[in-house]
Amino acid sequence: MPGIADRRARGLLLLVLLGIVAAAGLSWLQAQTAQRVREHEARLLLERLREVLPPPERFDNQPALDRLLLTDPRLGSERALPVYRVRRNGRPVAAVLTVVASGYVDEIRLLVGIDAGGQLIGVRAIRHRETPGLGDGIDARRSDWIRQFAGHGAGAGLALRRDGGDIDQLSGATITSRAVVKAVRAALAVFAERRAELFASTAGSDGLESPP
Ligand SMILES: Cc1cc2nc3c(=O)[nH]c(=O)nc-3n(C[C@H](O)[C@H](O)[C@H](O)COP(=O)(O)O)c2cc1C
Repeated sequence: MPGIADRRARGLLLLVLLGIVAAAGLSWLQAQTAQRVREHEARLLLERLREVLPPPERFDNQPALDRLLLTDPRLGSERALPVYRVRRNGRPVAAVLTVVASGYVDEIRLLVGIDAGGQLIGVRAIRHRETPGLGDGIDARRSDWIRQFAGHGAGAGLALRRDGGDIDQLSGATITSRAVVKAVRAALAVFAERRAELFASTAGSDGLESPP
């Protein structure tokens, strides 16, 4: 006959085992979910990158995987931001910089595609909280406004019309429009200055630091 202490010990053991099984199940579920979220994000990134990349026949690498993390406060963040390199036969064709604009409501995260000659291939807002019907016109799904950057270089034309340039502002959203223009100009400046450095390292070698 097992004593009371024995039965208590067995009950406790069962409880501990159940706890372990439950914890293992939960962490498996979490890992599965995290994996699915990562895959979903990678697919989204690829779709968005495509809109700011040169035509596919102009490059032969996989820009989404040829990623570098760049720290440069001019890009609107103290933190490292991804840069995607575009190459053909190993030679630079373009780069897509991530830049953070200071919008009306909050930060606006942009992808800025720049060809080797320093011209804009395209710009897309990938994360923002601007006001629906006003600042959210920066979203290419809402309006064509952001498509007008394609073909521009760092010249004087890259400014809002009311600031003497060729870029139409979003009506009722001057602050948002100006913030995007400013961030795009910053991306072009960083690209021009750090171009050699951006393309020097190979895929996966994350971690370029800001200049002294
Ligand atoms: C509720 C509300 C939301 C607003 N959202 C934005 C916005 O998303 N982007 C922006 O630039 N200005 C926004 N504004 C600011 C006004 O639209 C601002 O007066 C405007 O930038 C000035 O008009 P204009 O852009 O036509 O010169 C908002 C204002 C209010 C009251």
